[in-house]
Amino acid sequence: MASFTDDQADRGREVFRSQCTECHASSEFSDAQFQFKWSRRHAGSLYQMIQTQMPETAPGSLTDEEAVDLVTYILRMNGFEPGDAELSADRAVLDGISLSSIRN
Ligand code: HEC
Repeated sequence: MASFTDDQADRGREVFRSQCTECHASSEFSDAQFQFKWSRRHAGSLYQMIQTQMPETAPGSLTDEEAVDLVTYILRMNGFEPGDAELSADRAVLDGISLSSIRN
């Protein structure tokens, strides 16, 4: 199960609004197509994809913290419940978080 805080997901939303909305609407990250694709993967893959490939105009420019905050924002959009502890940008931890529950 993922552990992250509401504040962390809010920070992710701020990063999203400043760096991602040029190309994306947030609704793209919780629609059926997104859920079908990502429900077979783990949070670590989503983190890596964002960290190494986004924003498309400047891949690799996000800090580890910004990338993991973005992941928590996406988790929250997909029904994961915030808790008391922040999610760290630790690949082993992220790889242990299955996204299978995001499929409605
Ligand atoms: C300049 C346009 C652009 C910006 C800015 C951008 N993206 Fe993307 N993003 C894309 C494109 C194009 C794709 C599709 C890439 C592909 O399928 O190979 C994509 C794909 C993605 C995907 C995979 C979606 C899926 O359905 O699998 C994620 C997640 C993502 N972007 C997150 C982000 C985040 C987070 C940011 C902000 C930090 C961001 N993107 C900024 C253009 C952009």
